[in-house]
Amino acid sequence: MIFRQLFDSVSSTYSYLLASRQGGEALIIDPVLEKVDRYLQLVAELDLKLVKAVDTHIHADHITGLGALRDRTHCITVMGEMAKVDVVSMRVTEGDKLTIEGLALDVLYTPGHTDDSYSYLMGDRVFTGDTLLIRGTGRTDFQNGSAQAQYQSLFGKLLKLPDETLVYPAHDYKGDTVSSIGEEKRFNPRLQVKSVDEYVDLMSKLKLANPKMMDVAVPANMRQGLAQDEIARKGWAVTAAQAMALVGQPNVALVDLRERAEREKHGTIPASLHAPYPDLQENIRPGGMLHELACATGKRMVFYCAFGERSAMAVQAAQDAGIASACHIHGGLDAWRKGNGPLVH
Ligand SMILES: [Fe+2]
Repeated sequence: MIFRQLFDSVSSTYSYLLASRQGGEALIIDPVLEKVDRYLQLVAELDLKLVKAVDTHIHADHITGLGALRDRTHCITVMGEMAKVDVVSMRVTEGDKLTIEGLALDVLYTPGHTDDSYSYLMGDRVFTGDTLLIRGTGRTDFQNGSAQAQYQSLFGKLLKLPDETLVYPAHDYKGDTVSSIGEEKRFNPRLQVKSVDEYVDLMSKLKLANPKMMDVAVPANMRQGLAQDEIARKGWAVTAAQAMALVGQPNVALVDLRERAEREKHGTIPASLHAPYPDLQENIRPGGMLHELACATGKRMVFYCAFGERSAMAVQAAQDAGIASACHIHGGLDAWRKGNGPLVH
């Protein structure tokens, strides 16, 4: 496995680059905007293909690299279902698996620092975001934080992991890089409490100043989308309502770009083909399945995904590859569902 812990010294943020092998798919957790060039250089040097960029929560102390990484690599941006960001390409929730080639991370919903805080467990290690820090815990006094919820996330979930589980947080301000669940149970001063009330009391007495970047970072991190507006301006988008009229028409091919797990969980649009987004380039180049389908049948190609972000990128790529009929459903299956479009389970 390739595992890199990367540090942004301005915000003391750790980002993690993961891949199962050199030459394979990679995932990055909590990337920082100013470091995007460095990440991409490392990705190239290690001969990796960045396919997913994940934020553990909406950060208040730095601007996320998610949007820039998506724009530059066409990777899938991932956040939890509770994150109030305008657009991410994929949303996950407790019990889901976040996968790339050769790796699978279990998604844990661990609110408290914020109400959109998630942790990601990968075998012997857990990426705890700002829920559990080394000898500390994330503050709970803004962004819908809750010390009660954090206590449950800590004592009810993270601290129940095996003691030897390695803890990789989103920040450290002292220079520590890694800890373990057992070590934190014993030595983390915030975890030496006897009850939820004691923890709430402890957290209420911290009296921390707001992060310097907060007024800039939070609004910026909530607006990472807008690839779709550009596609709509080019006339390559249909609304969910328009798409409903296209279902079953012989001259239309609906193409679902989501992963199998998303299809099983949320259902599919009737009679749509499945062509997962990571295989897109192969499928749309001359000789590829979708390219040949479009050429041989003259069918109009209508992409969709969960929220319209992957499909917006797919439309641009397909148009670039010469599939002039390519368009997508603006807002994706989310808009389709809100418009009461039929679904197959
Ligand atoms: Fe945070």
